[in-house]
Amino acid sequence: MKYSRIIGTGSYLPDRIVTNAELETWVDTNDAWIVERTGIHARHLAAEGEGTCDMALQAAKRALEMAACSAQDLDLIILATTTPDQIYPSTACLLQSRLDNHGAPAFDVQAVCSGFLYAFSIADKFIKTGAAKRALVVGAETYSRILNWQDRNTCVLFGDGAGAVVLEASDEPGVLSTHIHAEGSFNHLLYVPGTVAQGQIQNGDGFTKMHGQEVFKFAISALSSVVEEALVTNQLDKSKIDWLVPHQANIRIINATAKKLKLPMEKVIVTVTEQGNTSAASVPLALDAGVRDGRIQRGQTLILEAIGGGFTWGAALVKY
Ligand code: UT7
Repeated sequence: MKYSRIIGTGSYLPDRIVTNAELETWVDTNDAWIVERTGIHARHLAAEGEGTCDMALQAAKRALEMAACSAQDLDLIILATTTPDQIYPSTACLLQSRLDNHGAPAFDVQAVCSGFLYAFSIADKFIKTGAAKRALVVGAETYSRILNWQDRNTCVLFGDGAGAVVLEASDEPGVLSTHIHAEGSFNHLLYVPGTVAQGQIQNGDGFTKMHGQEVFKFAISALSSVVEEALVTNQLDKSKIDWLVPHQANIRIINATAKKLKLPMEKVIVTVTEQGNTSAASVPLALDAGVRDGRIQRGQTLILEAIGGGFTWGAALVKY
């Protein structure tokens, strides 16, 4: 059987750090509330003029460097984002051009915070079926641009950044399985209203709206069930998991999934504290953090998971 294997990871965070203390000067909030309810202390925000493709490029270059692979060797580029630089071409095509790759299929995936898991799952299937040999999978977001900075219910939660992995065909595992789901009937609980028409945004304001408590409850149950699905599919006991690499929306949601897996928090990669929720970028940012600081080692078993607007959610069980 053919597997896809992670041969490189990379990430990028913009220089500008906004602490909770600074946010207190922008909107009616306070550090104690944010830390207690979310675990977030700070987030990175893209500079003026810095876009999703700029950040994706840095993360991709770092992943390619670790993989010792040239961009010309890629035969698939998938980029997950909710905040593309343009309506079209896709940010994946913009990235392909800046990487000087020619001819590989390149496309965006829009599944909000689960976007990376969706893109990763698609790339894994391309490789497993022999349709691709070396794929770049990126999650990149300038989420700050779809936040209303007067709305304390949402603006304190998110940040900007990008993460990337290079996957390669291998006879050795590899990605063991991926699991993605959606339930579109919950589209009204987390969304950005607006359509571009006649040169303007219509039918909405382009800002994130969220019913936090409903999202919170659904997130805990969906993540618990998709993680279980991944374990059952592989007939793997939870005690065999070395690392949980979760979506970084809220430390309380991460704690709940870790508890379900009976994993101590020392076995969980946590970046939400310093990065907030970077949507599609959060899982590859966390993965790269764990790989680069040496916690995640070759041969270990990882579980990746995420949930986002749609609702969409997913998990991947990976032998690193
Ligand atoms: O990426 C995937 C999707 N996102 C998520 O997974 C997020 C899921 N939801 C959550 O993480 C949590 O629901 C939140 C962190 C968004 C909110 O936490 P909560 O414990 O559910 O708080 P709440 O919305 O019930 O609000 C409690 C109180 C309210 O005041 P009252 O009505 O009780 O007087 C809010 O107005 O906290 C108030 N509040 C704030 N206070 C200070 C809401 N936002 C803030 C704020 N600072 N930023």
